[in-house]
Amino acid sequence: MLLPNDEMTIFETILARRSVRRYKSRKVDRSMISTLLDAAVRAPTAIHQEPWAFVIIQDTQLLQSLSNQAKPLFVAETQKLALEHTNHSFDIFTQSDFNIFYNAKTLILICGETAAPFYAADCWLASENLMLAACGMGLGTCVIGSALPFLNMPEAKARLNIPEKFSVVAPIIVGYPDDEITAKLRKKPVILANIETHRS
Ligand SMILES: Cc1cc2nc3c(=O)[nH]c(=O)nc-3n(C[C@H](O)[C@H](O)[C@H](O)COP(=O)(O)O)c2cc1C
Repeated sequence: MLLPNDEMTIFETILARRSVRRYKSRKVDRSMISTLLDAAVRAPTAIHQEPWAFVIIQDTQLLQSLSNQAKPLFVAETQKLALEHTNHSFDIFTQSDFNIFYNAKTLILICGETAAPFYAADCWLASENLMLAACGMGLGTCVIGSALPFLNMPEAKARLNIPEKFSVVAPIIVGYPDDEITAKLRKKPVILANIETHRS
């Protein structure tokens, strides 16, 4: 197994992770992907179900075709959910040259067996493990939730060999960052209560 470099502590890696949307053309090799999946499956999992399964796509033409099909569906979804009223603009999704996967060469789909009661939580925890491991290995990642409406259509699942009993939970692009990754500020943790044992 290829181990992530040990120069960063886990906390430094957590602070360093950012969503990456510009990638170098170099493809991530299979041994690195195998390490990422090893990290993913170490995530906590409710009642030991380990309901995850993975699809790895490194076919540029297929990625382009999935992007083309996913965009109009996502635009329709934003209207249904009234997301167009948020501050976020989704205009880019109507541009023909916009690739929903930011031209990344690798897309990993984390799929969950829907019979498991906490499959979505399990898959999201696996996703964060994968993204942190990637960051520790010098790779960039980004969740592409906008591809989900299309990826969960029966025709897309059939094309990607995803059995009916699975749902795609987290599409994650992976690649070598071609960006200066700048620190993003986060809101301070909101503490609703600070409850300690009273000593009399
Ligand atoms: C459930 C989920 C769906 C997301 N979908 C998209 C997406 O479709 N496209 C995209 O560019 N980023 C997507 N993101 C990434 C977020 O935009 C990003 O995490 C957020 O802006 C915070 O930035 P950071 O990850 O760099 O800290 C998604 C993130 C999550 C958690």
